[in-house]
Amino acid sequence: MKKLGHNFLMTAILYGLWGTLMGSWLVFTKQSYLSQVHAHINLLGWVTMALFGVFYHFYPKVSESMLAAIHFWVANISVLTLNIGLWMFFEQNGGGQLIRIGAVLVPLSFILFFIVMWQARDAGEAN
Ligand code: HEM
Repeated sequence: MKKLGHNFLMTAILYGLWGTLMGSWLVFTKQSYLSQVHAHINLLGWVTMALFGVFYHFYPKVSESMLAAIHFWVANISVLTLNIGLWMFFEQNGGGQLIRIGAVLVPLSFILFFIVMWQARDAGEAN
């Protein structure tokens, strides 16, 4: 996928907006039962996705591989399933199945990232 690093950064910004708006909501409504959703959207959505984006920016060859594109989609689906699931769970409205899907996809996303970065050695991009 071309411009994968930029795509990761754009989604990270959207998660960051979602996470910080949620933080403001926690402050103004004096609620805290959704603070763990707020934390996971910010750390997994904003921080982690932004880091993926920055790394892909510095490894342009491997960022165009099929595996890197799969990583992008797995990472996004993992953030969404985990956080929507957690949100439903803390609203006492189910969510267990989504959390379990997210709990599989989040580590899978890191495994994919590891393999793509390993391939960067063969592509001559790693120093
Ligand atoms: C508009 C910006 C933000 C506001 C207003 C905000 C507000 C809050 C509030 C009210 C809580 C709940 C505290 C409690 O449990 O009573 C919280 C928890 C937390 N926030 Fe934020 N936050 C913001 C941005 C961020 C960002 C950018 C990150 C990470 C990158 C972050 C990470 C966390 C973490 C890790 C917790 C602890 C969650 C827990 O222990 O359940 N926050 N924040």
